[in-house]
Amino acid sequence: MQLDNLIINHDNGIGVITINRPEKLNALNKATISQLHEAIKCYNADQSIRVIILTGQGDKAFVAGADIREFSDYNSDQAVKLAKDGQDKLFNYVENLSTPIIAAINGYALGGGLELAMACHMRVCSSNARLGLPEVSLGVIPGYGGTQRLTQLVGKGRALELITSAQMIDAFKSEAWGLVNSVKPYEELIPYCISLANKIKQNGPLAIASAIKAVNSNFIDNVNGFDVEITEFAKCFNTQDFQEGVSAFFEKRKAKFRGL
Ligand code: COA
Repeated sequence: MQLDNLIINHDNGIGVITINRPEKLNALNKATISQLHEAIKCYNADQSIRVIILTGQGDKAFVAGADIREFSDYNSDQAVKLAKDGQDKLFNYVENLSTPIIAAINGYALGGGLELAMACHMRVCSSNARLGLPEVSLGVIPGYGGTQRLTQLVGKGRALELITSAQMIDAFKSEAWGLVNSVKPYEELIPYCISLANKIKQNGPLAIASAIKAVNSNFIDNVNGFDVEITEFAKCFNTQDFQEGVSAFFEKRKAKFRGL
């Protein structure tokens, strides 16, 4: 598949995927969603890539939403397919990825853009960023998991305030609400995400994958997260990484994890 809506590069175990439709404020059309799925799948399958950073091209937008032009004349049946395909291919896929993925929010993260950032495991934004779910201003609601993930991250009252008012909030309010983990000046956004990724990638990748699974299980109906934690905790004991981590501790050296 041609990945012409993305810029992809990797260095030193960190994959960076940049959504590259700046003239449309990186709006997510179907092609971009499919390309993101492919690019993320490739990096997730590549053992040498330990962390993925997802960002948008330019200093204006991470992603200004789903591409409004594409769904403007849809009926309900088409809307179900659009939302379901998108959730399966990208949003749920990203959330359940075993490789940690950081959203580096470099400007507007609106609608599907904020939904994509919220599906990532962590969010860092630049001080010029503005975040919101403005769908009701178009007479529709978020369809890529926004009503669920925003509520999980900021609580019901704030989620309903943001969604029903269709207002954008700035970077610092986003941080105060817990919607993003930290705010950095625009020029420091990617360097900061890389330094965070460098810290993450020193740790055992299988243990990290287990941690993601255990944390996510808190949000799945009829799944006992404590039980998932026990299962994942026990799984780690069968790994060479665990042997290596413990040996390195006793030998007072840095562990060399191989994901085995
Ligand atoms: N879907 C499709 N195209 C979009 C888009 C989206 N979600 N967001 C921006 N664009 C396009 C604009 O149509 C415009 O294209 P054009 O030059 O061909 O007219 C281009 O990107 C630049 O956007 P523009 O609106 O001119 O920039 P601005 O600086 O005046 O405003 C925003 C920026 C983010 C406030 C504004 O673009 C906006 O409100 N976007 C839609 C946000 C939204 O509702 N997202 C949820 C969608 S469900």
